[in-house]
Amino acid sequence: MKAVQIVELSGPRDALRVVDVPEPEASHPSTPGQGVVVEVHAAGVSFPEVLQTRGEYQVKPEVPFTPGSEVAGVVRSAPDDARVKPGDRVASFCMLGGWAEVAVAPAHFTFKLPDELEFAQGAGLVLNYHTAYFSLKTRGRLTEGETVLVHGAAGGVGTASLQIARGLGARTIAVVSSDEKERVAREAGADEVVRSDGAWKDQAKEISGGGVDVVIDPVGGDRFTDSLRSLREGGRVIVVGFTGGSIPEVRVNRLLLNNTEVIGAGWGAYVLSKPGLNVEIGEAIDRLIADGSVRPIVGARFPLEQAADALELIDGRGATGKVVLDVVP
Ligand SMILES: NC(=O)c1ccc[n+]([C@@H]2O[C@H](COP(=O)([O-])OP(=O)(O)OC[C@H]3O[C@@H](n4cnc5c(N)ncnc54)[C@H](OP(=O)(O)O)[C@@H]3O)[C@@H](O)[C@H]2O)c1
Repeated sequence: MKAVQIVELSGPRDALRVVDVPEPEASHPSTPGQGVVVEVHAAGVSFPEVLQTRGEYQVKPEVPFTPGSEVAGVVRSAPDDARVKPGDRVASFCMLGGWAEVAVAPAHFTFKLPDELEFAQGAGLVLNYHTAYFSLKTRGRLTEGETVLVHGAAGGVGTASLQIARGLGARTIAVVSSDEKERVAREAGADEVVRSDGAWKDQAKEISGGGVDVVIDPVGGDRFTDSLRSLREGGRVIVVGFTGGSIPEVRVNRLLLNNTEVIGAGWGAYVLSKPGLNVEIGEAIDRLIADGSVRPIVGARFPLEQAADALELIDGRGATGKVVLDVVP
């Protein structure tokens, strides 16, 4: 089968090769027993794969390896006790191996793809939307009527967070860096949009009437202290990622003085050993798809052979919504 591999750790442009490799076995390294074998129609591209081309991500397989943590496609085979069966349209989180014509995913990370969504949207469903739900609700304890500020709001996690937050009855404020990203954040349902290079903290406090309840932060870097300052009493900053490059440090006196919290949200590591929680989050997201709140926003699409272009787009901060590889044209 055709696949794209990372063959050296030299960055997005040079690290990749299109190769012909044997199809994967039905066993998945991360899960006991058999996994779900998926004929891949679309594969997601995310920031971690940019880091993987440089050997800078926490998951560091030996080269050569096939990256790609999420796919949407049709089930070819599944274990007897799986919730999906051959022929089903699915969205899966496979961790690695997704940039290929066939991938294997753990059964508890494989979800039926609702009819409302096309394969490209399915390729952006599990990683981003499960992370968003986990960050906002499981870790962030979001309740109806609260206000959520989302950094990197036109990106994959950002657009997902806007939609999930609104679906859960929250008011949303998007922080973005350009006109085009403002358009995408509004398309994703942002109630208000502010600019990352402007007085976003003061604007957020004004819009929210004194401070926001939750900040979703996939960006990190030097805006972190202002995120803390933008909270109302009892507010929470949810740490999701560090696309901004640097990892912020917290002066904990701020938390004491204002009765606020900083909460880590590492979705994959948390849910890996909790299949029941995966199902619960999957069902909650299905309800939000059914009521129209969740519609993954697909940005740039590339054929599998142009995966390097997809990575460079993300690396250059040019991506909006979910960047997708169309494996079946
Ligand atoms: N915790 C978890 O479980 C979990 C799960 C999934 C992903 N993540 C992490 O979440 C982060 C976001 O992932 P994503 O897929 O949403 O990425 P993405 O689609 O590329 O969006 C990231 C956003 O970050 C902002 N940004 C600020 N400075 C940047 C820079 N120097 N380079 C690139 N982007 C920059 C950009 O928005 P502006 O230009 O508008 O500022 C961009 O839209 C990543 O670090 C990823 O590893 C964490």
